[in-house]
Amino acid sequence: MTQSLVAHSGTFDIAGLGTVRRLGFGAMRITGPGIWGWPADRDQAKAVLRRAVELGVDFIDTADSYGPDVSELLIAEALHPYPEGLKIATKAGFTRQGPNRWIAVGRPEYLRQQVELSLRKLRVERLDLLQLHRIDPTVDADAQFGELADLQREGKVGALGLSEVTVAEIEAAARHFTVATVQNRYNLTDRRSEDVLEHSERNGIGFIPWAPISAGELAAPGGPVARAADRLGATPSQVALAWLLRRSPVMLPIPGTGSVAHLEENLAAAALELDDATYAEIDAAA
Ligand SMILES: NC(=O)c1ccc[n+]([C@@H]2O[C@H](COP(=O)([O-])OP(=O)(O)OC[C@H]3O[C@@H](n4cnc5c(N)ncnc54)[C@H](OP(=O)(O)O)[C@@H]3O)[C@@H](O)[C@H]2O)c1
Repeated sequence: MTQSLVAHSGTFDIAGLGTVRRLGFGAMRITGPGIWGWPADRDQAKAVLRRAVELGVDFIDTADSYGPDVSELLIAEALHPYPEGLKIATKAGFTRQGPNRWIAVGRPEYLRQQVELSLRKLRVERLDLLQLHRIDPTVDADAQFGELADLQREGKVGALGLSEVTVAEIEAAARHFTVATVQNRYNLTDRRSEDVLEHSERNGIGFIPWAPISAGELAAPGGPVARAADRLGATPSQVALAWLLRRSPVMLPIPGTGSVAHLEENLAAAALELDDATYAEIDAAA
């Protein structure tokens, strides 16, 4: 496998950030169970990150809350000084009380503190892309968006994005700053954010689908994804990723894993082309 493999996924120009290869890496799964604490094998987690970059990944997604802190710290340990062209997207706005527990906090002073801490953990002067992890429903949304816009004006962040939002929320945020990316749950079997994807296409916003490789029952033996995988000499995960990459030119999947073998399998999806009939068949089944 060579660098040119990930390049097969094509590129996308993220507003205010620059060009990235469309198939990236999600660094949520390199922490302990429940996205809490350190992984059992830190060296393996760092090996996954280094291998991703070796294979041509130039867009890594993380968050202050993964661990918390663990994912950002491991990225810096494994990859700093960062290779030319590598872009790291992080997030703020979620707090952690234990494994699998997440509570949104969007008070402006908290968002600012988390940006300062992410700068420190990632060892950078400016965050490439900061995504508001969740809009805190208990805090005025304009106050949250306004603080992000201030942080961008001050040069602490390059581009700004959102996560788990509606079209109306994207439009509200766009009154404060250019929305460069949106990160919503989206995969073959969860298309609830179809309207957000279409809005992203119309407005040149990068759409980052999380949980990208989940194909649920469709991937079961004998199901449409498994059948397509057999026919193409691929795996169901690769078919799920190839379907996403074909679904839209603004699609930026960030499959996550703590395993080098799964990473290599997932990145090979960049070179997997779904023919029209296969694409239509699994699309219709979903
Ligand atoms: N914005 C948000 O609210 C939000 C929420 C969740 C995630 N995210 C981001 O999105 C990224 C991707 O989401 P995700 O990690 O939830 O979902 P995902 O990438 O669809 O799936 C990851 C899960 O699938 C397993 N896996 C990965 N590759 C595999 C393969 N080739 N074969 C079999 N199993 C495989 C992983 O386990 P192993 O580690 O064992 O491979 C892990 O349990 C995250 O890393 C994170 O950066 C964002």
